[in-house]
Amino acid sequence: MSERPAQPRREGPTTLELAARVVAGSDREHPADGVLREVLRTARGVSPDKARRVSEAVFAYFRWRGWVDRQAPLETQLRTALECRRAYAEAPGSFADADLLSRAVPAWVKEHVEVTPAWVRSLQQEPVLWLRARPGQGRALAAELGECRAAGGGCLADALEYRGTSDLFRTPAFQGGGFEIQDLHSQAVGWVCDPQPGETWWDACAGEGGKTLHLSDLMQNRGLIWASDVAEWRLRRLKLRARRAGVFNYRLAHWEGTERLPTRTRFDGVLVDAPCSNLGTWGRNPHARWTTRPEDVQELAALQARLLAHAAPAVKPGGRLVYAVCTVTAAETVSRAAAFVEAHPTLRRERLRDPVEAGKADQADLFLRSDARRANGMYVAVWRRGNCA
Ligand SMILES: C[S@@+](CC[C@H](N)C(=O)[O-])C[C@H]1O[C@@H](n2cnc3c(N)ncnc32)[C@H](O)[C@@H]1O
Repeated sequence: MSERPAQPRREGPTTLELAARVVAGSDREHPADGVLREVLRTARGVSPDKARRVSEAVFAYFRWRGWVDRQAPLETQLRTALECRRAYAEAPGSFADADLLSRAVPAWVKEHVEVTPAWVRSLQQEPVLWLRARPGQGRALAAELGECRAAGGGCLADALEYRGTSDLFRTPAFQGGGFEIQDLHSQAVGWVCDPQPGETWWDACAGEGGKTLHLSDLMQNRGLIWASDVAEWRLRRLKLRARRAGVFNYRLAHWEGTERLPTRTRFDGVLVDAPCSNLGTWGRNPHARWTTRPEDVQELAALQARLLAHAAPAVKPGGRLVYAVCTVTAAETVSRAAAFVEAHPTLRRERLRDPVEAGKADQADLFLRSDARRANGMYVAVWRRGNCA
């Protein structure tokens, strides 16, 4: 009997081939994280370890895109980006400030932000994965998951930096509602809101509910949160997340951001976590550096002004209006807040304590900077309505 010749084994696409597919398929309408998920889903049999390496290569590419030869084949560009990633992790000082300032972010950004070496260096670091444990459960969760480090004491003990490689979504702790994945500075917005059990809040741009769930925890699931958004699909996700977390003290509503409010209720607190240019997330989401346009900043600043003006009447006398954005452009932060003050004299600006860094002086414009900690850059401003207003 003659033996059959051995068939060469099909190995499937390599890590760099998959990463190149993601990079080639990503653009403004198709953000890299979504394309990555789709490529990994359709390329069968990709092990979790390989999926992690593909993801690393894709995000290294967009983080280090300013250093690659864009005429070279994509796989060569990906190798260069991975090499920059390794070199920066080993010796950040081997990259000159001037080089980082001119290559890490597009040139138009200088018109809107003071581009400092500290900021761009923070963008070139690998981002930290932050978890929010349920109130008082940080220590127990850290013991259960392992490889966690708390951000500090007090409320910071429930904010954990996760350094492991497990798929957290599959852990019993996650599936049992034991934690949310939420950036440290997004958690800080909840602490600034500081809602009390039994109060009534409106999370006006609730999206998928990251902050709604946090507000509910801070309110010990007592009182009521109206959670609205223009995007119904986001609110459907909020509902699923709330069910998993055992959060019940909320009501969903559609709001298009107009003066027609979802309810006549007057609130103890209104949070406008507004859509923004997202520059504060450019460390975590480097693809957005190359798809955000300067005109987005002006358009979003105008939208933020409308959202704030329309939401403000819902704040009851003595109640608070909290404005938050995960960006750092002047037009969407200090200028936005200053313009609002002029138009709304019955609302008094509050000075805010940085909840992450005890001992810092209170400030009206609270910048939670990505270069101070390994977290997204955010901005928060708060107004209180006078008791007689
Ligand atoms: C920064 S995200 C909110 C994130 C959310 N608060 C969280 O913590 O997960 C901004 C949200 O504003 C919503 N939005 C955009 N335009 C809006 C509008 N005109 N009216 C109301 N919401 C709007 C978006 O759909 C998005 O969900």
